[in-house]
Amino acid sequence: MDVNEKIKIIEEQAEKAVNEAESSKSLLELKTRFLGKAGEISSLMKNMRDVPPEERPSLGKILNALRQRVEERFDMLESKLKELELKKKYSEEKIDVTAPGLAKPDGAYHPNTLIRNELISIFSGMGFEIFEGPEIENDYYNFTALNTPKDHPARDMQDTFYLAEDLLLRTQTSAGQIRVMENKKPPIKILSPGKVYRSDDDATHSPMFSQMEGLVVDKGITLCDLKGMLDEFAKKIFGENVKTRLRPSYFPFTEPSVEVDVSCFECGGKGCRLCKGTGWIEVLGAGMVNRRVLEGCNIDPDEYTGFAFGMGIERIAMLKYGINNMKLLFEGDTRFLKQFKD
Ligand code: PHE
Repeated sequence: MDVNEKIKIIEEQAEKAVNEAESSKSLLELKTRFLGKAGEISSLMKNMRDVPPEERPSLGKILNALRQRVEERFDMLESKLKELELKKKYSEEKIDVTAPGLAKPDGAYHPNTLIRNELISIFSGMGFEIFEGPEIENDYYNFTALNTPKDHPARDMQDTFYLAEDLLLRTQTSAGQIRVMENKKPPIKILSPGKVYRSDDDATHSPMFSQMEGLVVDKGITLCDLKGMLDEFAKKIFGENVKTRLRPSYFPFTEPSVEVDVSCFECGGKGCRLCKGTGWIEVLGAGMVNRRVLEGCNIDPDEYTGFAFGMGIERIAMLKYGINNMKLLFEGDTRFLKQFKD
C-alpha cells in the first residue's frame, strides 16, 4: 500500500477513535496506539528505510505533520474529557444548601451549678471572696477546731466517713473557716462552696452533697449584720417579697446559733404543701462565730467578732425548682436535666 494511503487510513482511524473515546483512560490507550514507540505512526517512520533517499525528506515532513495533527487532536480530546469529568464530579457532589440542618442539642447547666453560680454572684456582689478547702480533712479542721472535741455529742449530728484514724471526708464546709482564719487576719469575708460527705441517704439526703459556707470576721460585726445580709440574699434568690426569720438553734462553733427560715415563696406565707402549712421554709444554719473558735485561730474575740452561715446547695435547688427527690440531682438523667435551661 502506498504511504499516502496509509497516512490517510491512520488519520481516519485516529479521528474515529477520538470521536468514540469516553474517558481519560481510553485516551491514554489511544496515545499509545498511535503515538507510542511501537505505535502506528512510529512504524510508518520505520518504513523510511525502504523509501528512496531523495523522497525521504518530504516523507519525513509529511509524517511529522501527521504526528502533530494527531497530537493536537488528542490534546483537544484531553481537555474536553477533563472538563466533562469535572462537571460530572461537581454534579455528584452537589450540596443542597436549602436542606434542613442537623441541629446539635444544646447542653444545659446542672441545677446545682445554676444555684451555685447564682449564690456566688449574689455574695461576690456583696464583696465575698471565694475560698475552696480540701474535701479530705483531718479531725482537727472538721471537728476539734470547730469546738467539737472527740466526745462531743454534736459529732453524732453528722455521720462521718473515716478514711483513716485521723483522715475523713469533710462533713461540712465549715472546716474551711478554720483554714481561712488561721491564715488571714481580719477583715475576713469569704464564701466557700464545695462537696461534703455524710453517711445519710433518703429522698432529701445524699451521702455526697454540696454546701456553701460564708464567714465574715471584723471589728463590730453583730447578729444584725447577719440578718441584714440574709434578707438581701433571700430576696435575690427567692424573690423580692420574701422575708426571713431567725430561730434559736445549736452549732458548737457558733454562739448564739440560729436556723434561718424564709417566708414561703410558693403561698406567700398562708401555708401550703411546700411549707407544710407553716408559711415558713428552713433554708440554712448560721450564727455568731464562737469565741473559742476565734481564740483557737489566734484572733482576739474581744477585738473581733464574726458571723458564719452554711447552706445545702441541693436543698436550695430543690426548693427553688420544686424538685421533690434529691436523687434526681445525682442520676444524670438528661430528660430531667434538660429542663433547666437558663
Ligand atoms: N456546718 C453547719 C452544717 O453543716 C452549717 C453552719 C455553717 C451553721 C455555719 C452555722 C454556721 O449543718
